[in-house]
Amino acid sequence: MGETLNIPPEETPRHVAIIMDGNGRWALSRGKPRLAGHRAGTENLRRIIRASADFNVEYLTIYAFSTENWRRPPAEVQGLMHIMEDVIDRELNELNDEGVRLRHLGRLDKLAPKLRKKVRHAVELTKENNRLNLNIAFNYGGRDEIVYAVQNIIRAGVKADDVTVEMMSNYLFTAGMPDPDLIIRTSGELRTSNFLIWQSAYSEWYITPTYWPDFDREEYAKALKTFGQRDRRYGGIDEKYYE
Ligand code: IPE
Ligand code: IPE
Ligand code: MG
Repeated sequence: MGETLNIPPEETPRHVAIIMDGNGRWALSRGKPRLAGHRAGTENLRRIIRASADFNVEYLTIYAFSTENWRRPPAEVQGLMHIMEDVIDRELNELNDEGVRLRHLGRLDKLAPKLRKKVRHAVELTKENNRLNLNIAFNYGGRDEIVYAVQNIIRAGVKADDVTVEMMSNYLFTAGMPDPDLIIRTSGELRTSNFLIWQSAYSEWYITPTYWPDFDREEYAKALKTFGQRDRRYGGIDEKYYE
């Protein structure tokens, strides 16, 4: 483990979510195939997971494959599926030893049985860990998540008037977790791309032109420090402005 950050705990985000974007352009800019970019992105993820634990982030959620990413050419989709399997095979024991609790956000049913099994095993193996909660959004879409929640609420026989914001939150894949305080998007796009659209209602955003494979510990520390300077109002006003 490396150095910690010198920011007070109350200014540290409990939950950081990252849209790991720009792998393709990173590869293109080096004359490499897109999958080389995805592999480099995975290497970077290792660093950011360790940094998150060092920086006392409690929850790290990463967007690895969206419900819309199935639209990519089959070879790229296959490549991403293999990378996911590979990451579990290579990293699981070390992450477990480091006290990382892995969870999956999204639907497992569309994934190949082998990958589904590996994901379930990883979640089960690490369920008692509490050093860092790592959520992997894979085959995840915010709209799909909300539809799935509504279906389950209806299936449970809940009456229309009993549906509340809290109940909806408890039917999402993130049930029981705090909403993300900070969402980081690399590679400069100014959109959510269907990531945590319910949970991000009051998240702070940090968007950087840096491509994901180049988003290093230093820039991560900078993102966390800028978060500490934000004035979160949640629709209200600070007491100092009261008349
Ligand atoms: C993000 O990188 C990773 C995934 C979406 C799986 P991209 O593959 O979207 O990279 P760009 O946006 O094409 O550069
Ligand atoms: C968002 O990136 C999905 C992930 C990072 C997994 P995309 O590259 O798919 O987003 P768009 O298509 O540019 O909006
Ligand atoms: Mg992209």
